[in-house]
Amino acid sequence: AERTDLTGRHVVVSAGGTREPLDPVRFLGNRSSGKQGFALARTAAARGARVTLVAANSELPGPAGVDVVRVGTAAQLREAVLEAAADADAVVMAAAVADFRPAAYAEGKIKKRKDAEPEPLELVRNPDILAELSTDRARAGQIVVGFAAETDDVLANGRAKLARKRCDLLVVNEVGEGKTFGAEENEAVVLGADGSETAVPYGPKDVLSDKVWDLVALRFP
Ligand code: C5P
Repeated sequence: AERTDLTGRHVVVSAGGTREPLDPVRFLGNRSSGKQGFALARTAAARGARVTLVAANSELPGPAGVDVVRVGTAAQLREAVLEAAADADAVVMAAAVADFRPAAYAEGKIKKRKDAEPEPLELVRNPDILAELSTDRARAGQIVVGFAAETDDVLANGRAKLARKRCDLLVVNEVGEGKTFGAEENEAVVLGADGSETAVPYGPKDVLSDKVWDLVALRFP
């Protein structure tokens, strides 16, 4: 049967990976494909939600019926997510946001000076958008969901991250060879601030997405 349990809800999803430019041709980036975030947007729309998808550097086409805002940097992603979150019932941060960006942007292409030692690359911290959204909720009862990719002590690190970021749910993936990044399938544990722990076995990103929306819908005031 077709589900309509998100009808009347506005949800915001971030997807993809930010790129932090060094100069007009170079950036610091990551391997996020955007597939998980796009799956979240598609499944929410299929359940009746109005969806704003903030997509960072993803090649994927916008899902039908979804409002897509394309961004590049963490700063642009933050602006777009905060604006859309103002009237949202839920925000899901599936994007891989750069923790750091180059301290300076060179207007011209950085030159390789002959025989010179390479210059150290100076970085500055990016704001943590998930922590900011969780700490200053745009609306009472807004549900905030984060994603975490961990390589070891997945559950312990996930619990600590959930507490630190103050979100309602944290979807924890184990990352490694062939897992998660760019893959069609995913396996995760969804941790709740209420102490709940929901294991989602290896399977399509749409199935994990629907499970996330089930857990979000349960928490709506
Ligand atoms: O701290 P870590 O990067 O592992 O946390 C991942 C979660 O935090 C993801 O939901 C990601 O979208 C979010 N994040 C953020 N702003 C940052 C870094 C990560 O919102 N600067």
